[in-house]
Amino acid sequence: MSYYRHHVFFCCNQRDDGRPCCNAKGASGLRDYAKQRAKELDLAGGVRINQAGCLDRCEEGPCIVVYPEAVWYTYVDRADIDEIIDEHLQNGRVVERLRI
Ligand code: FES
Repeated sequence: MSYYRHHVFFCCNQRDDGRPCCNAKGASGLRDYAKQRAKELDLAGGVRINQAGCLDRCEEGPCIVVYPEAVWYTYVDRADIDEIIDEHLQNGRVVERLRI
């Protein structure tokens, strides 16, 4: 049994050598947005959102992984984050269109 109902890791790795990285695609800002939304929706007790370093799926990013299901997603904007929160974190339904 996991401690959190859902534990979400956002890769926020920043590279400055020209290689792809999640932070160059808006990861930090959307991590902050996700945390804010989780708080507003009062998910905080069961959902934990943490920053991670490189998760080694850089080409497919920006990426997050949701445990305990170990489901990976990519996203481009707030609407995608809203969908992951509403569907997966609140209702337990995997968002297949964003899955990687
Ligand atoms: S930089 Fe995000 S997975 Fe590597």
